[in-house]
This record gives sequence, structure tokens and C-alpha cells, in this order.
Amino acid sequence: MLRDADVLSLLLSRKPAHSLAREFYTDQGVYQTDLERIWYRDWLMTAVSAELPKAGNYVTRQVGEYSVIVVRGNDGVARAFHNSCRHRGSRICSAAKGTNPKLVCPYHQWTYELDGRLLWARDMGPDFDASKHGLKSVHCEEAGGMIMICLADIAPDFAPFRAQAEAYAGPHEPAKLKVAHQSTIVEQGNWKLVMENNRECYHCAGSHPSLCRTFPEDPKVFGTNPKEQAPVLRDHIAKCETAGMPSQFVAAPDTQWRFVRIPFLGNAASYTMDGKPAVSKRVGRVPFDDAGSCLMYHYPSSWDHFLSDQVLVFRMNPISPMQTEVTTTWLVHADAVEGVDYDLQRLTEVWIHTNDEDRAIVEENQRGVNSPAYEPGPYSAQHESGVIQFVDWYADTMIRRLTGRGLMAAE
Ligand code: FES
Ligand SMILES: [Fe+2]
Repeated sequence: MLRDADVLSLLLSRKPAHSLAREFYTDQGVYQTDLERIWYRDWLMTAVSAELPKAGNYVTRQVGEYSVIVVRGNDGVARAFHNSCRHRGSRICSAAKGTNPKLVCPYHQWTYELDGRLLWARDMGPDFDASKHGLKSVHCEEAGGMIMICLADIAPDFAPFRAQAEAYAGPHEPAKLKVAHQSTIVEQGNWKLVMENNRECYHCAGSHPSLCRTFPEDPKVFGTNPKEQAPVLRDHIAKCETAGMPSQFVAAPDTQWRFVRIPFLGNAASYTMDGKPAVSKRVGRVPFDDAGSCLMYHYPSSWDHFLSDQVLVFRMNPISPMQTEVTTTWLVHADAVEGVDYDLQRLTEVWIHTNDEDRAIVEENQRGVNSPAYEPGPYSAQHESGVIQFVDWYADTMIRRLTGRGLMAAE
């Protein structure tokens, strides 16, 4: 099991534009370092706003060793708390999701308000100060229909991401979306293999027959690099910007997140087998069907697609060095009626297939990397620049945090 110093020296000696050393995908020590330096420090996608439409709606999340409750308050604000009672530490909510007017610990019934204040604790004596025993809060922000949490004491500045999330998701009006379907799968692979696989389409032609009906596999079309954009992408961006939808490539200075609105193949409007919309009611203010997909990624935990007829949100959560949970949420217009405005099977089939195909790819990748014969191989500059960019972000972030160099407030 590697320690921080070993992880650092492996990172410093890695070959640029090559996959990482075996330990990064297999070792319990690297996994722990990933949790401590990335997952416990960065903003994480934790839910879509539409999962918590009303006061008292909550979800629970497990991030490494932390259990977290995310709950919508009576004032409409989404908040997150450590799911550990301030009495003797019991988990307060054990269900994955639910609705409660108050948060009541099942052990001795200490009762918390939805904003975390302790309201009631039986027979604790005259000196007990309830105001000192509220739930410990976790940073929580909501933007563009996404609820994000950060477990760090001091969270990185959320404002730059919020500005772009609100701008790019804005035309899709996230407040008027509802969850049409959600699926969770567990991939037997390290979380970085899952993200690497997401950041390229080198594998698409060989693995994704249904996705390839509509999604362009050329990185110059799906917008990996703002300096290398095919005319069809430039034209699409110009058309959508003219129609009032922010569409140009925009990314964080350290590349941790990005938005860009890309075209589908031909006249396709959605991720369906025939390319026609899956939902007859367009979302938000999107002015035409062929608005393509506004692609967002946010390391380490999410990638999303904002379409004219739906929004797809992918949330990734590591479970162990070689296990990663991936949850996909399909959102449609809140007024769209299943069976009338959309057929659930038609809405979900392409990504259910694609997710399963990606799961199989990641699991075979993991099995091969587990072999002592594995050695880091070269990424294709033409097709895998997105992977190079992710791995560079990962390595640079880890090196910075392991050495304390370029220490920012949150690091
Ligand atoms: S541990 Fe929660 S009330 Fe006792
Ligand atoms: Fe894929």
C-alpha cells in the first residue's frame, strides 16, 4: 500500500501523455490519497435539483468515509450536513432518499430542524446548550439544476462555476425539470478509468452502435479543444449563440470543468435510435430541436448533457480502489407526461445501452491493468486529448496538494 511520498514520486516520474502507473488504478494507498486530496476537497456533484423538489426532501450520500445528508429546507435552500448525530454519533438518515419534516435521530430521538439546528433533546439537564449541538454542515451550493457539496473546511471558490452553470444550463430552465428516470450501476473499475473512458470517443465506433447514430466521434466536433474546432462545430456554436444560448467552449483555468454546446450528427435532435426527439415537449427556452448537446464535465464526479428535449446528469462516486458507482438521471420538462409526451424506453435506451457498454469496457480495462505485465501506454493525441487533459489535471492537482505548492485557500 503506497504512502503519500510514494504517490508523489510516481506522479513526478510519470510519462506525459501516457496512462498512469498500475498503482493509480489498483492500490489502496493511492485510493486513500485520492479521497483525501481530491474527493474530500473538491466540489462534488451530489444530486440534481429536481431530486429535492420540496421542503423536507433529502438524499444521503457516502463519499469515502463520510456520510452526508442533503436536504431541502423550508426556505427552499438545499443544505448538506454530516450524517452523524451530535449526541453519540449515530447516522440520522439511513435511507438513500426520503422526506421528513424534521431530521430525527433513530437512536435517542434528538430532533433537528431542516437547517441543522438541534430542536429537541430529551432530559439533557439545565446546563445543556442545544445551540452548540446542531448538525455539522457541509458546503452545499446549487447552480444550473445541480446540487454540489464540498467536504473541505474551506471550499474552493464556487462562483466561477456557478456563473457558467447558470448561463449554459439557463436556456434549459432546470427549475422546470423533473426526474423521468434514474439508474445506478456499479462498475468494477477505478474511478479514474471511468473518467478517462468518458473523456474520449476513440472507443465509440467499436463499442457504442446506438450512441454513434447521433453522437459525433471526432473530438474536433465534440469540442475537446477550443483551438481545434471543425467548421460544423463552429457553425453550431454560432447558430446557438445567435439564438441566445451560451455555447462557446468555456473552462476553468485549471481545466477542472468545461461547457461547450456541440452538434449531433446530421439532423439528429436527441440520443434516440432514429435521432428524433424522445420528448415532444422541449425543455426550457431552447428555441429549436437541433440544439445538439451542451456538454459539461466537472472533475472528479460528473458529466452532463443538456439537450433540447432532456437533460442527462451523470454522477460518479468511488466505492473502493476498483469499484465505482455511476448514477444517470434523465430529466424532462416538468409538465411532460410519460406515455403521452414521451416513452420511457425510447427516452432511456441509448444511454442504458451505452452505460452498460462503457461498464464492460472499464471492467476489461481494469482486469488488464491488474496484470503485472501492464505498463503505461501512449494516448492518441488525435483522439484522446481529453484523456490527456484529465490525467494532467489529476496529476497536477495531486502534486500541488501533496507538496503544498501553489497553496490556495482551499488547498
Ligand atoms: S445518537 Fe442520536 S440521539 Fe443518541
Ligand atoms: Fe463510452
